[in-house]
Amino acid sequence: MSSTNLSELWPGQSQALLKSLHILTPQGTLNQDSRRKLKQVQHLVQLITPHLDGLKTIADLGAGKSYLGLMLYDLYLRSHEDMQLFAIEQRRELIDATKRIAFSSSFDRINFVASSIEEAVNSPELPPEIDAVTALHACDTATDDTITFAIKKNAKFIALVPCCQAEMARLLGKGGALDNLWRHGIHRREFGSHLTNVLRSLYLESLGYKVRVTELIGWEHSMKNELILAEKIQRGNPAARRQLDSLLETMPDARRLKLFAGDALAQG
Ligand SMILES: C[S@@+](CC[C@H](N)C(=O)[O-])C[C@H]1O[C@@H](n2cnc3c(N)ncnc32)[C@H](O)[C@@H]1O
Repeated sequence: MSSTNLSELWPGQSQALLKSLHILTPQGTLNQDSRRKLKQVQHLVQLITPHLDGLKTIADLGAGKSYLGLMLYDLYLRSHEDMQLFAIEQRRELIDATKRIAFSSSFDRINFVASSIEEAVNSPELPPEIDAVTALHACDTATDDTITFAIKKNAKFIALVPCCQAEMARLLGKGGALDNLWRHGIHRREFGSHLTNVLRSLYLESLGYKVRVTELIGWEHSMKNELILAEKIQRGNPAARRQLDSLLETMPDARRLKLFAGDALAQG
């Protein structure tokens, strides 16, 4: 159902940009799906911008149609002229389409990089360090590639909204005492996803990030709703590392997760 009520837009939010992104129809209305996307991105922008003050570079990974990057530019980078945004997406046609939107909006401090997240780590198109890293619904292990990217780029701030997660579900064992926790397919996926996010959070903590895990938005707007915010506050955290290691001892297969590909200790 369409609505002409635009009170859901933020003051100063560009209607022209939202039309280019097909969030608003050409007539300036919102439909149910586009309202959901708008709310998700607005909430994320609201939650991350307090952490961006003083930072110079931000990378959005698995950017897709760059809803987040373009709206973040509209609502924050416009007035923060010393900040550069990098949008990284492996599908070149999406990069080409969003480049055109950025150009027509005169957003000249967004740099688009057509690359996988893994390859972007060493891309000459990106600076050696990136201050802030975001990934909104980066599929499956792309969230783990994002964590590896953020660590290698010395990110001070990371915001992740993980997507579906299949890797851990495949690793959950059969024949053990705990199997009833994941005997049914839906439980296996949900438990695998939950466990992966627990390990992601603990891993980031062990590397010296202060981690907050919360809801992005009401469940009516998205089922993939967990938000992990991580702020680098110290070089490392041995207590968190010990907790991570003892959890991994109870589930040795989890050491094979892509999350730990660059972590010699977790791989054991
Ligand atoms: C579910 S979409 C989300 C897009 C966008 N972040 C958003 O929330 O609208 C996931 C995107 O991540 C991209 N992606 C998945 N794995 C990737 C990888 N390893 N490297 C780069 N992009 C990836 C996909 O091509 C897709 O565009």
